[in-house]
Amino acid sequence: MKIAVVTSGGDSAGMNAVVRTVVKIGILRGCETYIVREGYEGLVRGNTQDYIPYSELLADPSVIQRAHGSAKTNLFENLRFGDGLLLRDGTSDHPSGRSLKGRYIVRVGFDDVRGWFAVGGTLIGTARSKAFRTPEGRLAAAYNLINEGIDALVVCGGDGSLTGADSPSIAQGKITQEQLAKHGHLRIVGLVGSIDNDMSLTDLTIGAPTALHRICEAIDNINSTASSHSRAFVLEVMGRHCGWLALLAGVSGGADFIFIPEHPPETNTWEDYMCENIKRHRQIGKRKTIVIVAEGAHDADLQPIRADYVKDVLTERLGLDTRVTTLGHTQRGGKPCALDRTLPTLQGVEAVNALLEATPDTPSYMIGVRENKITRTKAVADAIAAKDFTKAMSLRDPEFLHSLENFFITS
Ligand code: F6P
Repeated sequence: MKIAVVTSGGDSAGMNAVVRTVVKIGILRGCETYIVREGYEGLVRGNTQDYIPYSELLADPSVIQRAHGSAKTNLFENLRFGDGLLLRDGTSDHPSGRSLKGRYIVRVGFDDVRGWFAVGGTLIGTARSKAFRTPEGRLAAAYNLINEGIDALVVCGGDGSLTGADSPSIAQGKITQEQLAKHGHLRIVGLVGSIDNDMSLTDLTIGAPTALHRICEAIDNINSTASSHSRAFVLEVMGRHCGWLALLAGVSGGADFIFIPEHPPETNTWEDYMCENIKRHRQIGKRKTIVIVAEGAHDADLQPIRADYVKDVLTERLGLDTRVTTLGHTQRGGKPCALDRTLPTLQGVEAVNALLEATPDTPSYMIGVRENKITRTKAVADAIAAKDFTKAMSLRDPEFLHSLENFFITS
């Protein structure tokens, strides 16, 4: 089997560990492994330029010798690296005359992915591809995969990316019957890579623990300066429409008040409620105030709650010297924490297992984790349709959420 792996949508810590695992386990199970550069954009573009295939290099060592301008070139080294040797040179021309330019589906070997578990972002690139959203784009993507003889695709991305993976035009290819018959059905599995933890039917998405850790560290840093000046800070955190990052960051960083989309406060009265509580915290001796606003937070009438407005309320009503900090993409980048290495590794193994076991009738599984077990959800579409952001930890249980709220009010 020829397995390709692609990372798509917003990057998240742990995506490289997915690629590493799929490549290594794939090879150990006897598959050829490929990476797709630049997300779905790379799938749409495919390999548009002629290049020297790996097999030709094997057959004619002088190609490599010429390339390196030295008869002493260690052929064995090059063979071990396979086509993936090119990855080290990015998109620039390689001395061998081979180039990644115009090549988006690239065969890789063990050596290409060594140590990738510890690297943030996605080394194979990602993109929010507009072309892939069009039927023509998806058709081109399916064609390019089939043209390279790829039988199976592992997609690591958020809900938008996994929706793309489930689309019939890519799964079935809508390519001519002869082509399909020749290359067989394209099997697809999805792994959820997103810092937002906003996918149903899985407890944790790849990258969410690292982002949470990042926010937690930022709050620790802000806490010391806030306390020194007896200031208030309003922190806006990512998460799109999901409050998981904001809520758990608030719990782990000792926040005074948290706004999340899943628990919208009463319109026009939340200002009083927030101020009463923060005032009480100050009265019992707190020197600093931390308010966390999820980027998707809104009131009961769906009006967005903006960090700047919260700052004005704290300044004007409580006289607090208040600053706004938007953490932005610092939450998304950087080294994966341990959980964002183990989770993608275990899920990557399961992804390859699922692909090897798949029949033409098997749906595109989503690999998740539930109650500490790696899971296969019947179809990616089910998870996306079930869109239930309140799945995560305390968000799941309204009573628990209520006691948590009481804790914040009194602490
Ligand atoms: O989905 C991940 C995420 O980081 C969201 O939390 C945020 O809303 C969005 O992506 C930002 O996207 P971009 O990096 O394209 O600005």
